[in-house]
Amino acid sequence: MNLSSRSSIPVGRRRAAAPVAVLAAAGLLATAFTSTAGAAPTLQDTTGAGATVAAVAAPDIPLANVKTHLNQLASIAASNGGNRAHGRPGYKASVDYVRSKLDAAGFTTTLQQFTSGGATGYNLIADWPGGDANQVLFAGAHLDSVTSGAGINDNGSGSAGILETALAVSRAQYKPTRHLRFAWWGAEELGLIGSKYYVNNLPSTERSKIKGYLNFDMIGSPNPGYFVYDDDPTIEKTFKDYFAALGVPTEIETEGDGRSDHAPFKNAGIPVGGLFSGADYVKTAAQAQKWGGTAGQAFDRCYHSSCDSISNVNDTALDRNSDAAAHAIWTLSETSTQPPSGDTYENTADVAIPDNGAAVTSTVTVSGRTGNAPVALKVGVDIVHTYRGDLVIGLVAPDGSTYPLKNSSSSDSADNVQTTYTVDASGEAANGAWKLKVQDIAAQDTGYVNAFRLTF
Ligand code: TRP
Ligand code: ZN
Ligand code: CA
Repeated sequence: MNLSSRSSIPVGRRRAAAPVAVLAAAGLLATAFTSTAGAAPTLQDTTGAGATVAAVAAPDIPLANVKTHLNQLASIAASNGGNRAHGRPGYKASVDYVRSKLDAAGFTTTLQQFTSGGATGYNLIADWPGGDANQVLFAGAHLDSVTSGAGINDNGSGSAGILETALAVSRAQYKPTRHLRFAWWGAEELGLIGSKYYVNNLPSTERSKIKGYLNFDMIGSPNPGYFVYDDDPTIEKTFKDYFAALGVPTEIETEGDGRSDHAPFKNAGIPVGGLFSGADYVKTAAQAQKWGGTAGQAFDRCYHSSCDSISNVNDTALDRNSDAAAHAIWTLSETSTQPPSGDTYENTADVAIPDNGAAVTSTVTVSGRTGNAPVALKVGVDIVHTYRGDLVIGLVAPDGSTYPLKNSSSSDSADNVQTTYTVDASGEAANGAWKLKVQDIAAQDTGYVNAFRLTF
């Protein structure tokens, strides 16, 4: 096959794809494909503005409701030996409390059990029915405390903040484009045990559906800072924009990537982000200047100790961070649709299709676009064949997900497949190597791919 410079030339948008044509001419196309396919997945911005735009603004999360959950967690600790730690009765009682609220609000809840240190642990997973199951937006918080205290800031705060956000989703009967999932992790304090267990036991097909994971671990620190995880750029910008609109300066979370439940998701290649109001590090004079509070004192002097009680919370930080969580969950679960541009990318190099043989592909490399592919991506297929019923055809997105276009049919004896399919590709990044995959599954008749084109 001649990988000619004609392959992947964008017909309607030469400027965008010129580098591809240059690479192709230089014989470097394969390299370009590899680097494109190997790029880290990001939660794609679909507006070109650097952040997604929610169709509906997130509601204000009532601080009083978040505090009610915190008070409940505090009394659960009080009646269970003073903590809510893994393997202790206060942990399971915390799970039962959160679960009952979610069940009453219409979530589908699942308890995932695991064993750590000889004790049973639990992850509580809650799915909000609806949305595109192939595009999951996920928010999580660990629900366990250390054994030395009630764990109200660490991490009753994040647990209560996302619980109230989930309940707000239900009150609004929010119907986002993406599917929403929430989780309350067990045994974080023993080394991210619950979240690692969840990610390790998730089939790779399910992992690839998670388009973003947002983590909330300590969001009401008594001497607070406003830290945004420095990870997926779209998630990060969504949080930063929220605080900028409030006039609250933020800093990048620099305590280290590995310290909470986003780490297993990040390690699995899932875009992550989150908020943090500080733990045992000391607030500097510059930080006290911009955020108030006390310089020379830890963000949370009660971190991992018995005084992490209901009084160990800064209400303003808890309120702002809960509202920011809701804002991000609303915004990132919506994908705005882009008007069709008509931009076409095509590969007209012929690809022989072996008779009753292995699948072959024709590749079109898309570059220079912003955000995701459209809801109505046009897939132009031009295959010359003497018995088209032999052919199984699919579209393979840059991340490897496959969209079936055509099945085989022993009774369809007509020649050729010359048609345009429409595919909802809004869950896929536009840029990268798209493949038309064609397999001939019956003996005798043969043919070749004449052209493959994508219109955005
Ligand atoms: N995960 C830690 C705990 O639960 C808290 C923590 C410390 C943290 N540094 C962090 C969480 C940075 C997120 C980011 O005890
Ligand atoms: Zn914690
Ligand atoms: Ca055949």
